[in-house]
Amino acid sequence: MKKKIKVMTILGTRPEVVKLAPVVHELARHKKQIKSLIVLTGQHRKMVDQFLQLFKIKPDYDLNIMIKNQTLIDVSSRCLDRLSKVLEKERPDLILVEGDTTTAFIASLAAFYLKIPMGHVEAGLRTFDKHRPFPEEINRQMMTLIADMHFAPTKKAKQNLLNEQINPKKIFLTGNPVIDALHYVAKQKKLINPELKKIDFKNKKVILVTAHRRESFGQPFNQICQAIKQIAALPDVEIVYPVHLNPNVQIVVNEMLKGLENVHLLKPLDYQSFVYLLKHCFFVLSDSGGVQEEAPAFNKPILVMREVTERQEGIEAGVAKLVGMDTANILKQVKLLLNSVSAYQSMSKSASPYGDGSAAKRIVQAILKQYLL
Ligand code: UD1
Ligand code: UDP
Repeated sequence: MKKKIKVMTILGTRPEVVKLAPVVHELARHKKQIKSLIVLTGQHRKMVDQFLQLFKIKPDYDLNIMIKNQTLIDVSSRCLDRLSKVLEKERPDLILVEGDTTTAFIASLAAFYLKIPMGHVEAGLRTFDKHRPFPEEINRQMMTLIADMHFAPTKKAKQNLLNEQINPKKIFLTGNPVIDALHYVAKQKKLINPELKKIDFKNKKVILVTAHRRESFGQPFNQICQAIKQIAALPDVEIVYPVHLNPNVQIVVNEMLKGLENVHLLKPLDYQSFVYLLKHCFFVLSDSGGVQEEAPAFNKPILVMREVTERQEGIEAGVAKLVGMDTANILKQVKLLLNSVSAYQSMSKSASPYGDGSAAKRIVQAILKQYLL
């Protein structure tokens, strides 16, 4: 039996900060048993800084790897190189990573090479389509092969892991800590981006848009923007679109949508403002993973601009719908939600298939049990 365990949480992008912050807070509540270290790879820069501030997280290491318009090879090689040095120096008992980003996969790989155990938060999500999402589907499948503890957010995710012959004793059904993060935000003093104060939420139907997936770049992304342009021409609609900083997104969005009166192209929003927007919008149009989990928590319908999703729970609960990336179909589904009261009501029912706000507690309890009993 060990006296104190060293747990290193490794994170790099916006969604990883949101989902690992509650876990970091919970680790800190067990100071006597756990020495908690935080490593930021810096895969994202501006897009994580405000989130770290909000959640009061101070990384022990910042590897600062981001470069403009980075390729997957850039992220992977810089991350592997810099992270392995920190892992060798600190030799944690366990690393914690989240989801399916390149930070999460490369951290898992580095830990495996150095024979350091790995815990995977949000384990077991699958589309079973190698290229969608790209590279995330393969990242998470490879992480499953490496993981020593699998924290599955839902029963479906757990079942996917069981189907892959993962030892049931290593799977922990915890919920997704994104819901814990929403509870945290609800308790903070409200500081909302002034741009949102200008939006007429009362008299207009406000559609919240986000889109950033790598596999959509090129023609599919042009079609998404074309759809947004056509939606903006419908009566009484306002579109609020915080635009991801990836240049592949920025250039096309600005070329196709800038200057349209009722399309508000904003800088990426801080988390509190984004949650405010989620609460007050009419519905959501997005290709994001995290937003698919958050929208149902506010009873907001979400149209998912992808061909497949690993978040089937929302689809099955009837609160999310896959609409693909074809302009005509996106427009058709948006019109249906705008014009049909029954279609809207059937998608805006209360559903919380992704967690109950106690995921971080369950994750840390599982770690304590594994290492200290
Ligand atoms: C990454 C993840 C994706 C996740 C998304 C969340 C990978 C391969 N992709 O995609 O799974 O859904 O984050 O948003 O891990 N940039 C900035 N400042 C920032 C952040 C990004 O300028 O703070 C720009 C840079 O030019 C950067 C580019 O965006 O090179 C792409 O960033 P990257 O992390 O490689 O990809 P994302 O599309 O953000
Ligand atoms: N988000 C935010 N501001 C924004 C856009 C997104 O705070 O302008 C939050 C959102 O609430 C969710 C997370 O960022 O928690 C999702 O990030 P993203 O869509 O970039 O990544 P994904 O979840 O698709 O990996």
